[in-house]
Amino acid sequence: MNAVEIEEAVSALAEADFDPDEFPFAFLEAFGNPATTIKRLRSGSTNASDIDGAVLQRNHIHIAVCGEGQVTAKLAELKSSSTTIRAKAKFILATDGIDFEAEDLNSGETVACAYKSFPDHFGFFLPLAGITTVKQVRENAFDIRATSRLNKLYVELLKDNPDWDTAERRHDMNHFMARLIFCFFAEDTNIFFGDDLFTATVTKMSERDASNTHEVISTLFRAMDTKIADRKSSGLPRWADVFPYVNGELFSGSTDVPRFSRIARSYLLHIGNLDWKQINPDIFGSMIQAVADKEERGALGMHYTSVPNILKVLNPLFLDDLRERLEDAGDNARMLLNLRKRMAKIRVFDPACGSGNFLVIAYKEMRAIEAEINRRRGEPDRRSDIPLTNFRGIELRDFPAEIARLALIIAEYQCDVRHRGQKEALAEFLPLDARNWITCGNALRLDWLSLCRPTGKGVKIASDDLFETPLDQAEIDFENEGGETYICGNPPYLGSQDQTPEQKKDLATAFAGAIKSTKSADYVSGWFIKARNFVSSYGGVFAFVTTNSICQGRQVALIWPAILGSDLEICFAVPSFQWRNLAARKAAVIVSIIGVGPRSSKNKLLFDGEQVQETRFIGPYLVPDYDTVVSSSRIVLSNLTPMSNGSMPNDNGGLLLTVEEYRSLIRTSPGAARYCRKFLGSNDSIQGDMRYCLWIEDSEVDEAASIHEIQRRIEKVREHREKSDRPGTNDLALVPHRFGEKRHTGDRALLVPRHSSESRPYLPSLPVDGDTVIGDSAIAMYGFTMSDFAIFSSRMHLVWAATVCGKIKLDYRYSNSLGWNTFPIPPLTAKNNEDLTRCAEEILLAREAHFPATIADLYDPDKMPDDLRRAHDWNDEVLERIYIGRRFKNDTERLEKLFELYTKMISKVPSEQRA
Ligand SMILES: C[S@@+](CC[C@H](N)C(=O)[O-])C[C@H]1O[C@@H](n2cnc3c(N)ncnc32)[C@H](O)[C@@H]1O
Repeated sequence: MNAVEIEEAVSALAEADFDPDEFPFAFLEAFGNPATTIKRLRSGSTNASDIDGAVLQRNHIHIAVCGEGQVTAKLAELKSSSTTIRAKAKFILATDGIDFEAEDLNSGETVACAYKSFPDHFGFFLPLAGITTVKQVRENAFDIRATSRLNKLYVELLKDNPDWDTAERRHDMNHFMARLIFCFFAEDTNIFFGDDLFTATVTKMSERDASNTHEVISTLFRAMDTKIADRKSSGLPRWADVFPYVNGELFSGSTDVPRFSRIARSYLLHIGNLDWKQINPDIFGSMIQAVADKEERGALGMHYTSVPNILKVLNPLFLDDLRERLEDAGDNARMLLNLRKRMAKIRVFDPACGSGNFLVIAYKEMRAIEAEINRRRGEPDRRSDIPLTNFRGIELRDFPAEIARLALIIAEYQCDVRHRGQKEALAEFLPLDARNWITCGNALRLDWLSLCRPTGKGVKIASDDLFETPLDQAEIDFENEGGETYICGNPPYLGSQDQTPEQKKDLATAFAGAIKSTKSADYVSGWFIKARNFVSSYGGVFAFVTTNSICQGRQVALIWPAILGSDLEICFAVPSFQWRNLAARKAAVIVSIIGVGPRSSKNKLLFDGEQVQETRFIGPYLVPDYDTVVSSSRIVLSNLTPMSNGSMPNDNGGLLLTVEEYRSLIRTSPGAARYCRKFLGSNDSIQGDMRYCLWIEDSEVDEAASIHEIQRRIEKVREHREKSDRPGTNDLALVPHRFGEKRHTGDRALLVPRHSSESRPYLPSLPVDGDTVIGDSAIAMYGFTMSDFAIFSSRMHLVWAATVCGKIKLDYRYSNSLGWNTFPIPPLTAKNNEDLTRCAEEILLAREAHFPATIADLYDPDKMPDDLRRAHDWNDEVLERIYIGRRFKNDTERLEKLFELYTKMISKVPSEQRA
């Protein structure tokens, strides 16, 4: 169950009649416990409680229902119960159906409220459903509730009005929902006079059977689009006349409303009864976009960028500087005034704005700074000088684009209330400004300059609809000539294999010759190039959240020289941090934030959690002070054993045998054994599988072919190679007993899989004996030393390979020419080799101790055996001491050292030798 579904279930429970016997089970069910768990608790078999009538679910919660007025005492009893501690309960909860009290035993946080309002605190209990990571989701019960109710209404309306569920009417539907949200907000914030004016009017004027609900709502929309002076001649009924003129083109255009069923009407009224004052435009907006998206509806409310993460972009981009200026100004009226003037001209532009959360947060933060200026200058009620029109966005999808606009309007109102008081906020709120500053369109195709002109006065457009901006007339007039522009956001990341042909064309358009090939570029790089073009010509700074892939592997050399050119530089970065958990794939999305601006002598900032490192410059791998781009090398640059590709059968299955096929061959022809070898590819080595292959020397062909099955297989290979349209393969048909590419040397070798899951804490590899043939899905290091194995298995090497080789989807993509041949390591003494050999042996012994566990089992991050982890840790300790005499503090420090050594290393080897 997701947070939205849990909220629904919890609300339904609170609204139903209180049943003391059933409550504990119903509560656990609402938090997603399966029927079998509830059944076992009910039967008593898993109920660990020692308190009469209470239910204790191990590792979770201890719940008791008590007599009226005894809730506090019952909670104390639960807390002191020895079973609560023994069963490691995280929560205790007591209720009498009137009052409700609970405690989180880990944090000590408590909830005490009326029973009916406990759903307001459902976020408190979300850890019961395994939802702990997304703090904001937990803390914004209102936004989740509103999203879930609107979602129900949306689905119900589409059921009753299938014609609105078409591409042609999607915009109407989205627009209708945006209007509703505005009305709900307005009626709870006194923007409409009188309590719940909209909901109350619909309740009163529409029939209970819902037959005329659409007409009533349509009339109200018409009223809100009619100026007060025109009301008399408009023919509006008196009951609609009490609604203000909203304008802002929000209610202009078609006032068509979908028809309501009885259920839809009741959903609508239900939504109206929520307290919309509590809405958080940044969070709500992100959640609500899922409503209009069939695929996202299931995960409603879970996909959004959290406020702390948005601030990781906005603070270093410009907010920290504004705050510092405020600090410097103290109470100096002149300096404060200048800062206010400066802020009034700042444009914030998010060219993939979704529902506008970056813009909303930027606006709110700037308003807070401005309010402080006004307070210090003794002008607390002063109208804001920060125009909403300076917060601009582009969004591809229609509904989020609408919500972005609405979210900004709501944010403006809430800021006015917070900083100036409700009276002032109300006095200036209506009518809304008709100008549209969120453009619905494709950011990689649009001309950003026309949407965010830094100087002069463009053509002023007020389209006939607030939410519709014709793309060819998107210029907006504003009077902030000379102001600063900050481009920000979290544009979509899409690896090259996941892009549609259209998206590939988008990218090619954005690259426009600056980067020749879009082949391996991530979609997000289009935003970097467009932003660089903008900033390079018109000034400003940009910062995006981005997939790490553009700072790793082959993409670095492809795109970074074009992004930075000779005029821009990375001015700050937050390298590699976890964005959100994709629970289904048990893998975290790791992203970076990169800020780019004109070159300057100022120090650059590299953030790591709470720490900031100041550096002279930041390179594209986000390593301080090294801007070298690592290119692949044919030769090993350190003193390490070279790797080569594995052997490629090119056999259409003729030369490879499953274990069963091998056994059957040996059974019928025992002499065949001498022509068979063990065979391992990447996947076999990780999953612990085994295959065999025919390995026949040229001198043995006639004898081997006298075995019927071998002869049959050789023929199969010959046919396959003859049929190939590749001349090279045709030539190989003359030697069908041989592998297409033969690299097996007969030495023991280290098998290195080409791909490995990024969740593994180390790169896996497998030593194999000289009788085992390594297939071409893997890389082989023939005649490796134990030091090679220790080095390959280290954290140092993983960090290097992850950075310079890059990833494919969520797997490391290992390349010997990029990762191994370039790996910098100090010269090893005999003692170093001895120590590393011992470490390697410890790792292999620890692996063996868990036989028959596979590499996949052993390196599963959740199950990695302690002794193996210890052996790796010791290996890291020994190797890192060889580098710097102590352990590195973190991966940034590791990379810094590696880049330092790499830079020295390549200075000694001419590039032609490497290429
Ligand atoms: C990762 S989301 C970020 C949205 C929002 N800032 C948030 O945190 O939820 C990326 C947004 O870019 C939009 N998008 C995708 N391709 C686009 C394009 N070519 N032009 C404009 N927007 C696009 C998506 O619809 C989505 O809303």
